[in-house]
Amino acid sequence: MKIGAIILAAGKGTRMKSKYPKVLHKILNKPILGYVTDAVKELTEVKPIIVIGHGGEYIKEYFEDSYIYRTQEQQLGTGDAVKAGMDALEDEDAVMVLCGDAPMITSEILKIMTKQYINSGAKALVLSADVDISKGYGRIIRNNEDGFERITEEKDANEEEKLIKEVNSGTYIFDKKLLEEALLGLTNQNSQGEYYLTDVLEIFKKQGLIVEVCKAEDDKVILGINNRIQLEDATKILKRRINEKHMMAGVTIEDSLSTYISSEVIIGEDVVIGHNVSITGKTIIGEDVAIGPNTIIKDSIIGSGTTIISSVILESKLGSDCNIGPFAYLRPDNVLGDRVKVGDFVELKKTKVGDGSKIPHHSYIGDAVVGEKVNIGAGTITCNYDGEHKYQTTIDDGAFIGSNSNLVAPIKIGKEAYVGAGSTITKDVPDRNLAIARGKQIVKDNWKKKK
Ligand code: UD1
Ligand code: CA
Repeated sequence: MKIGAIILAAGKGTRMKSKYPKVLHKILNKPILGYVTDAVKELTEVKPIIVIGHGGEYIKEYFEDSYIYRTQEQQLGTGDAVKAGMDALEDEDAVMVLCGDAPMITSEILKIMTKQYINSGAKALVLSADVDISKGYGRIIRNNEDGFERITEEKDANEEEKLIKEVNSGTYIFDKKLLEEALLGLTNQNSQGEYYLTDVLEIFKKQGLIVEVCKAEDDKVILGINNRIQLEDATKILKRRINEKHMMAGVTIEDSLSTYISSEVIIGEDVVIGHNVSITGKTIIGEDVAIGPNTIIKDSIIGSGTTIISSVILESKLGSDCNIGPFAYLRPDNVLGDRVKVGDFVELKKTKVGDGSKIPHHSYIGDAVVGEKVNIGAGTITCNYDGEHKYQTTIDDGAFIGSNSNLVAPIKIGKEAYVGAGSTITKDVPDRNLAIARGKQIVKDNWKKKK
């Protein structure tokens, strides 16, 4: 059975108090909508159709051609929103409808829904859950045989119906053709004057078609986000879900509450993560790595056995058994070999460092190629910028840069060459030579006495 997906995201999300559409607010560095589409992706190869409205241009700009977009000009209700997306479907047999603001949905539950939909011969299926606080949700009304009868929105519900704890998640599967026809028959005769998608289920029922309810055991999967308090609640839950996955796969997380790992991060066995750590983006971490406390890693690859303490690492690739920090700042585009030491208050940018090299303290190395087994003394600065252009520094294998040196780029320090401490180097230093470029020391004999 070919299944398409329509995700509703045209609503304004007024309660977020934001100029950006609700579904673009981020949880662990990923927009809310991204969680929904990730869950869908595992189920169908067809590109999801996103129904946009308020702030739709931001959504398109962010996700570009990952999705198909349809615009709902006026927010006339969920039924009208689905209608806006229907023409983007092709030869699908069924269509899954989801809310773009409910990021807790999982591919597991979508698979369970699909299975039940197919096996029962239903023409529509709705995902429900029992919740403690049903306020704001549509209630599932069941018939005498405990089957589906209809959904009543809270604003249309009587006192008795309001007590029902089983609620509509806003996630459904429909037969595509029958949905198309039923949408044409919707009216807005209700307390909100909206075209309710939920009425389609009642229409199906009246036509004698099978409508199934799939009740989620874990009520969290249906949680939607309407304000920033719920955004934080969702962050906590999703964070815990991700952290648990890693812990079960052999990662020690010392304090899950302060550990933020985004969903696409890959972490090897026996990695230990201390408190207050954020690992996001397309990051891959090898085995036996120790990270934190107080570390940020984004879009980076970390080789096995490396230790990182209180540092920031962005878009960089580190080899194995490196030793980073405390207080190192790796800006984008560094490539470090194995056993590299980058110590305290060292900033690296667009720099390649060979195996076994050490930059232990207080340095800025930018636009540089550093060979193997190089030692860069404390306070070394690559002067890579003349106010207009950036220039490269090359430091060959085995070179030794004395403390507090300035290397004025473009410059090349040869293999096993030496730079005396406190030098400002403006000319290349050939292999195995020593360069000293500093004021000569004068010692005045008995100077104090003469004064
Ligand atoms: C809807 C359901 C309710 C369910 C709840 C689950 C209806 C009539 N009610 O209610 O039974 O319990 O979701 O959260 O469907 N949207 C559009 N265009 C519109 C209106 C809404 O795109 O014209 C989108 C919103 O952006 C949102 C989703 O549809 O992503 C749900 O809309 P919302 O207004 O939150 O629906 P509820 O009234 O909460
Ligand atoms: Ca809602």
